[in-house]
Amino acid sequence: MPIMTRRHFLTFSAIAGGATATGGLLLSPPSLAKTNPLLIPPLIDARQQIGPIELTAQAGETHFYPNTPSFTAGYNGHFLGPTIRVHKGDDVELSIKNTLNEATSIHWHGLLIPAELDGGPHQLIAPRETWQPVLPIRQKAASLWYHSHVHGRTAAQVYAGLAGMMIVTDEEEQALDLPSDYGVNDLPLILQDRHFINNEMQLSNNMMDIMHGRRGETFLVNGTLQPYAEIPRGWVRLRLLNGANARSFALSFSDKRSFYWIASEGGLLEQPVALTQLSLIPGERAEILVDFSDGALVSLVTQDDTSMPMMGMFNRAKNLVLSGSSLVTFQPTESSAPFKLPIKLTSLPTVMPDIAVRERSFHMNMGMNGFGINGQSFSMKRINEQVKLGSSEIWHLSGDMMGHPFHIHGVHFRVIARGGKKPLVRDQGLKDTVWVNEPVSVLVNFDFPAKQAPFMYHCHILEHEDNGMMGQFKVV
Ligand code: C2O
Ligand code: CU
Ligand code: CU
Repeated sequence: MPIMTRRHFLTFSAIAGGATATGGLLLSPPSLAKTNPLLIPPLIDARQQIGPIELTAQAGETHFYPNTPSFTAGYNGHFLGPTIRVHKGDDVELSIKNTLNEATSIHWHGLLIPAELDGGPHQLIAPRETWQPVLPIRQKAASLWYHSHVHGRTAAQVYAGLAGMMIVTDEEEQALDLPSDYGVNDLPLILQDRHFINNEMQLSNNMMDIMHGRRGETFLVNGTLQPYAEIPRGWVRLRLLNGANARSFALSFSDKRSFYWIASEGGLLEQPVALTQLSLIPGERAEILVDFSDGALVSLVTQDDTSMPMMGMFNRAKNLVLSGSSLVTFQPTESSAPFKLPIKLTSLPTVMPDIAVRERSFHMNMGMNGFGINGQSFSMKRINEQVKLGSSEIWHLSGDMMGHPFHIHGVHFRVIARGGKKPLVRDQGLKDTVWVNEPVSVLVNFDFPAKQAPFMYHCHILEHEDNGMMGQFKVV
């Protein structure tokens, strides 16, 4: 069934025009008699593959709640897509077929490749067309993701389910012997929130939802509602991806146990960082190691989204999440092989702001004059910036009214200042998406070319991006 057939789902919401209709939801929260086993997206390992990796963007129906289908979309399935594992040094052939009745694109978020292969809004795949890129994998091990990126339609298509995880592996990471048994002690966790009415997923077009980005009162992990996962009684690696349109997660465990953060968006950190709490903004990934050897039942929980301090009050029903809401519950089963946490994971280049050849400023606008960056709303036809291939620059980022997750395609960057001071612990490592809830400065390396097609930079609140909070640059 084409995703456009349900008019109220993709184009017009039953609650358009007022937020009040959602008020009742909090009074009668959806409840399930028992929780659901966490779905693990199928793994496609590029090295086990004969011929190109085939992905089909398709419309479908998903029973998040039994007996009530929701109209959704996915790759090779009805919601989300397979996890694709690629290896550093390989050239990976893909074949992406669009069976939707609207154009789509598939962007490799975090992959460092030439812009023509990036899958952004300039690499549209028309209905019934197939795109066959060959992706040269030239970066270190990392947890990435892929998602639709059609200008003006990204939010609706990702919300419908057009997203999946991509894992880059390499020999350096394999030598560390981290938990790597996919679906067993190495779990992808795609964190999303959605709005449901009568157990059916809704795409709200209410003005406040567009303004702040769509949030929902219901959490999905890998498309599973109220999931639990059986895991070995031992160390487990969680690859956390914030795949929500707009919500930021403030993650911790229900028993406040500490865990080790080992990788940012660009790959391994130099050393494991012990934390009890970790925030994850839209588009961002973090890998953590958790010790479940005590055998206790424990949940990964989130606190309320604090990214919209004053504006939240206009739209409480869908933004308010009770502090400590469970995303996924872990049930340790049999014990696993002992694991020793490495002291050192990798080495990263020293951050040297002096190498920057130029500084630029980007201010994300919202308000009276609409959404934009530096006062301009996005246009496919305008190249906003041009940078020199192989150079480094300092980009100063800021934004209006609320926190914005700023993402740059085709690069890794390092945070060099936040709020005029030193970066936070969570700012370390190689990054492609950064929390701009105060002025932030990043040192960006432009090592991948954008000659014919540009790369994009934008707010990763997808409703902001779709409405113009995006720009594009060439690297020549
Ligand atoms: Cu995750 Cu331009 O995107
Ligand atoms: Cu991206
Ligand atoms: Cu924004």
